[in-house]
Amino acid sequence: MDKIIIEGGNTLKGKVKLSGAKNAALPVLSACILAGGHHRIQRVPALRDIRTIREIMSGMGVIFQDDNGTLLVNSEGICEKEASYDLVKTMRASILLLGPLLARLGKARISLPGGCAIGARPVNLHLKALAAMGVDMFLDHGYINASVDNLKGADIFFDIPTVTGTENIMMAAVRAKGKTILKNAAKEPEIINLADMLRGMGASIEGDGTDTIVINGVSELGTVEHTIIPDRIEAGTFMMAATMNRGEIEIEGCQPDHLTAVIKKLQSVGAKIEATSMGVLVKGPDIIKSVDIKTMPFPGFPTDLQAQFMAMMCIADGSSVIKEAVFENRFIHVNELQRMGADIVVDGDKAIVRGKRNLQAAQVMATDLRASASLILAGLVAGDGRTEVSRIYHLDRGYEAFEDKFRALGANMWREKA
Ligand code: EPZ
Repeated sequence: MDKIIIEGGNTLKGKVKLSGAKNAALPVLSACILAGGHHRIQRVPALRDIRTIREIMSGMGVIFQDDNGTLLVNSEGICEKEASYDLVKTMRASILLLGPLLARLGKARISLPGGCAIGARPVNLHLKALAAMGVDMFLDHGYINASVDNLKGADIFFDIPTVTGTENIMMAAVRAKGKTILKNAAKEPEIINLADMLRGMGASIEGDGTDTIVINGVSELGTVEHTIIPDRIEAGTFMMAATMNRGEIEIEGCQPDHLTAVIKKLQSVGAKIEATSMGVLVKGPDIIKSVDIKTMPFPGFPTDLQAQFMAMMCIADGSSVIKEAVFENRFIHVNELQRMGADIVVDGDKAIVRGKRNLQAAQVMATDLRASASLILAGLVAGDGRTEVSRIYHLDRGYEAFEDKFRALGANMWREKA
């Protein structure tokens, strides 16, 4: 297992180019199942989760070809409907294959995703919505067995605005008979990116990006050429890196309207953030002001940037309260930050962070994807030695060439075999 070593203290300066968004690429690749023929998908990031979903889909007969940064996806020969436990357990988002398989083949057998470090991660809302569309499902030795003769449009209300739940039902509904109305739908930019792709295939979708999405099913869908949006969570991570160490980073490809809540909070912290022709320029302040956050569905502050924000508050001038309102166990990074000298007290869904002047370099362990980024940000400001972040396979799930991008900005950071 690899680890990343950081000798902190360097100020970060320069430009960084965003990769395509993991959480946009996963539903887009799943949606390629909806129609045979060659789909051309651009800006697919080279990530572990992308390799995982490619492996699952290849096992179903989908053919992938890398064409100089563009991914060609051909699901003409899709035959197998099963996504096996040994792959699904490494990436819960495999549940995104359920909707497209039902729409294309009328059947699917997907391992019920287990929980993960940050929470139970149930998929009950996905299954309840599919049942409303006429899908028969039963649990068989840990697998969801689903079948449907004719998917039918339905009026669906999500108790919680689930991101992959919204995406799953969108992909089922585009080929269903009749109209589907999705209420309390998720509004993330990744939802709009998927809707754009589906419209490119000939789907009839309106309202994506709002809490009500209306889809009129069509009998046929065609091939599409589509570009994945830049990764807003990667962008927010670099914004916080610049803010934490008086850096100055231009983030190429960043779309400010994907990060309004984050930009507002970072400006309150003291960062100077301005739009440029390439993206966004972030300048870190001399003093980091302590600011409270509460994670919410889009357009609120994203839960995927909570751990990174916490690392920043560990060296803020004052105390801050961080409320995690999306997942029930997303403070695992706290124990590791405390090993670096952070003063954090967790009380249920809140973490109270008392800012200190410095963090100490230490050996720490990544526990999930965004916690890995948080520990690396902390290591970048711990200037009294080497921070070693182990189990970095978590990071590789969602950040492309992370240490290379930081080294290009002046960080003293490298990867070693553990
Ligand atoms: C997506 O997960 C993202 N993953 C997550 O990113 C992100 O943190 C999350 O949305 C919230 O923004 C992908 O897009 C692949 P949810 P998802 O369904 O769809 C509850 C990362 O680091 N819920 O919006 O699984 C659920 O427990 C990952 O890149 C149900 O109760 O999240 C949670 O409390 C982590 N029943 C809340 O809803 C359901 O059927 C929001 O979850 C579905 C969800």
